[in-house]
Amino acid sequence: MKYKSQLYPRMYNPLLIKPERPLPREAAIIGSGTIGPDIGYYLKSAIPELRLIFVDVAEEPLENAEKRLTGYVDKAIKKRKMDENKGKMVLKNISYTTDYSGISNCDIVIEAATENLELKRSIFRQIEDIVRPDTIITSNTSSIPADRIFSELEKPGRATVTHFFAPAWHNQAVEVITWEKVERSVVDYLLWMFCKTGKAPIVSDNAICFILDRIFDNWCNEAAYLLNEANAGQIDKVAQEFVFAGPFFVLNLANGNPIIVETNTLQMEEGEHYRPASIFNSVDRWKTIKMGVRPDVPEDIKNTVRDRLLGILFSQSFDIINQGIGTPEDLNLGCQVALGLKKGPLDIMRDLGEAETGRIIKKFQADRPGFPGAEKPFSYYQTFRRHVLADVKDGVKIITIRRPQALNALNDEVNDEILAAMEEDIDNPEITGFVITGYGERAFCAGADIGNFPKMLGDDEASVQYARDCSRLLLYLDTVEKPVVAAINGMALGGGLELAIRCHSMVATRNSYFQFPEITLGILPAIGGCVVPYRKWPKAADTFHEMLRFGKSLNVREAKEIGMVKEICEDYFSMIAQAVEEVNRLQGKVERIPDGKAGIGEILPVENPAAGKLSLSQEAVSILDKTIKECAGADTFREALDIGYNGFGEIACTNAAKEGISAFLERRKPNFDV
Ligand code: COA
Repeated sequence: MKYKSQLYPRMYNPLLIKPERPLPREAAIIGSGTIGPDIGYYLKSAIPELRLIFVDVAEEPLENAEKRLTGYVDKAIKKRKMDENKGKMVLKNISYTTDYSGISNCDIVIEAATENLELKRSIFRQIEDIVRPDTIITSNTSSIPADRIFSELEKPGRATVTHFFAPAWHNQAVEVITWEKVERSVVDYLLWMFCKTGKAPIVSDNAICFILDRIFDNWCNEAAYLLNEANAGQIDKVAQEFVFAGPFFVLNLANGNPIIVETNTLQMEEGEHYRPASIFNSVDRWKTIKMGVRPDVPEDIKNTVRDRLLGILFSQSFDIINQGIGTPEDLNLGCQVALGLKKGPLDIMRDLGEAETGRIIKKFQADRPGFPGAEKPFSYYQTFRRHVLADVKDGVKIITIRRPQALNALNDEVNDEILAAMEEDIDNPEITGFVITGYGERAFCAGADIGNFPKMLGDDEASVQYARDCSRLLLYLDTVEKPVVAAINGMALGGGLELAIRCHSMVATRNSYFQFPEITLGILPAIGGCVVPYRKWPKAADTFHEMLRFGKSLNVREAKEIGMVKEICEDYFSMIAQAVEEVNRLQGKVERIPDGKAGIGEILPVENPAAGKLSLSQEAVSILDKTIKECAGADTFREALDIGYNGFGEIACTNAAKEGISAFLERRKPNFDV
């Protein structure tokens, strides 16, 4: 897909970009209505030392903004998501003013005013008169193309759209728009800045409504047209197969009716079929499903609604890819992260298959003439990596796990994509080796995707098979000649740590830590965790006992002391540079994990095993201890791995596993005494 390189001419992983300036020290938000305060809270939580200025035309929204920020901080402290000191820092250095003159020294100014072109233009005229020539200026518009908004700026090269999603302090998605006059360095800086501060930015071309509002606004608009067929509660109920909250529920939450009218009217430039449903002009609140009530949706109505909702979703997705507005990977990810789709639209198509997707889009185009559909074969819309980004730096392929919504947790698809990214270049003489890293600064990988566990719990064979399937990538690492280095950019937990230790070397940033939390879930590390550490760093056997049996975490300094981490790096960028150096150093020198029995010292029985304050299951710890010992006694590394898979099968059938996994998914502390 040629346009991908236009949207991402340099790197796909934003943290591989060396920024031309540091994080902002001073920022302003123009407009303190709905989303402005939330953007401000995100910025201050990510950069507490930032000086932040809210500007609005009236005092009342400014007062409300201040109350909102104070409320957020109080709540975060109560929920122990923030300590008191940080809370004070976040609320410090913020001014609320109706006077633009205070923004003169800002590094970045974000406009978050009402969705009105003339208003925005007049705001930007005022901003440009006051700020420095190098200040970055952005608009949070959800629909108006950048060239229209910034047409009157003297220096449009520093201006673009940065579109946030509600709630902007929590929702990781931000669309960054690339348009003809913006300097590429500005787009790159914004991508870097957002990713560094915990967001998951995606790049959109400068089309009306960009990527995600094409999906969301038309989804809501279509729901309104469907009111001839079903009521709002029924439509929301059908939609919930695909989204966590139905369109009418979300419209109520966001007072979104006028926005849909505004944006769909704008999109009518592309055709009459985008016309907003007239009912939006007469309705304020929708009668949606009450908690615990399950509205009855007759089968024929359900099918009609389902087909139409999928029809609009597919139509817009095809169009975004046909026009090159966004990449398939960003479309798929953005819909999940920003809009709360349970699966990306391209994943839904894949699950339904070519014939069913074809039927739905054909029917939709017949019902709603004018809407776009597929222009290429089905496979064209399916050939992309869903969870992994691949970049090349100095002849080394950098593979980044990108699942920001789950702290880069692994599932079969992620493993397979990493493997495929390596296999693709295994014979390429221009690629000397690989680096595996995680997206963002928080997590290399939070382990195996726990959401996948319930379907195998209680089934020994299925669990062993799961472990074997997950091991394909790791077995490949055991034999591949080209060096593979893990670049650890934060937490490396469970399956993530098993992946990291199977790589041929490891470098890590200062904030990294390493942990096997499996026993706190009532399970054990299935794919080498009970085997590899003891064979690679035998002197640290006691440390590994503590990690595996009691979930003890290892900080980066401790990991370096035992030889697990080769270098500790200041930041993400230098970590990647160091990892590339390590790939070069390891050319022709990759060491294999040894066969033979492993010396693991003594494993002393404990009476009341605990991980911190959490009492562990005695049964689970016993199975784990037995597995570690048997793995150590195996003659070959492969045999030891097999014992580990079987140990996982055994523990997956215990009550402890059932309780531990359920507790995580229900967001509660497990009780292993039951
Ligand atoms: N599998 C699936 N999803 C995971 C995950 C995993 N291993 N680890 C984190 N996530 C998800 C969370 O469910 C959450 O999703 P949500 O926002 O839809 O609820 C999101 O990632 C962010 O994590 P959250 O738990 O809200 O962050 P936190 O800062 O409160 O806690 C951790 C961070 C790492 C302590 C916590 O996520 C955790 O304990 N994860 C599991 C680690 C683990 O046991 N790994 C080994 C698995 S075998």
